Amino acid sequence: MWCLMTDANNIVFLNGQYMPLSEAKISPMDRGFLFGDGIYEVVPSYNTKLVGFALHIQRLKDGLDAIGIKLYMGLNEWREIAQNLMDKNGGGNLGLYFHVSRGADNKRSHAFPEHIQATVFAYAFGIEAVPLINKQNVKQFRVTSTEDLRWKRCNIKSTSLLGNVMHFQESRNKGVQETLLFNQSNELTEASACNVFMVKNGVVITPALDHQLLPGITRCMLLDILRKEGSLQVQERVVNMTEVRDADEVWLTSSSKEIVPVVELDGQPVGNGTVGDIWQFAQLLYSANKYNY
Ligand code: PDD
Repeated sequence: MWCLMTDANNIVFLNGQYMPLSEAKISPMDRGFLFGDGIYEVVPSYNTKLVGFALHIQRLKDGLDAIGIKLYMGLNEWREIAQNLMDKNGGGNLGLYFHVSRGADNKRSHAFPEHIQATVFAYAFGIEAVPLINKQNVKQFRVTSTEDLRWKRCNIKSTSLLGNVMHFQESRNKGVQETLLFNQSNELTEASACNVFMVKNGVVITPALDHQLLPGITRCMLLDILRKEGSLQVQERVVNMTEVRDADEVWLTSSSKEIVPVVELDGQPVGNGTVGDIWQFAQLLYSANKYNY
């Protein structure tokens, strides 16, 4: 179910208070605005059931630690905000966006100010219902590829997303849905807003975690679910461009999309150009287990 939310009936959280989006205001001196100095999360919920909540909040805390923002909010406080946003915005299928910036100072200085309070913002937006696990009806992605031109701290879920935004827009300009990113050694990192998996001869392969990619929660859950089920071999390792071009299947993963099959890369079919059987198996398994996280 899509939720029709206007600014006036979308109730958001800002610095301890709930209010309509149209009334939420922050200072233009906020470092999130001036420097992209902040961390964010997107958590999916389906009929008020959250997916991977504790994992998302742990990643948020890791990000805040990595950039030195001190915020004393525990899992339960975040959970209360999530519950309130779902309740106040009518439940249904909602993505919950959490954003913490370093806060606003009265002057612009690159150095971290000592005595400012972090800005905490959260809001809910409608997401698509649980995807149909059906090879014929599933939304299939066509993608292009390019050199990854972002920074070298892509493991931090920073609100400084211009590099990602520019890569994403490249795909829009080409009439496709995403851009796969390769480093200077032609190794796969991720996509502009998703992690990437490939399948070859029944083996599920994804780049190992390092500073070049986000430790995606969907990626982490999917790997765990596949390993526990045990019938497919799973590898986290370096994945080079030739392998991706020769893959039987390519998938994208993200919280709001779950597992998306890619059928075309740079104008060439992926595998036989149709949605693969292993995608179907993986998405079924993911759907059956995602509320356990
Ligand atoms: N994007 N890599 C990047 C660069 C991302 O922006 C995302 C998520 C992922 C997947 O992470 P996860 O499985 O934890 O959602 C990988 C979110 C949804 C966004 O920016 O809206």
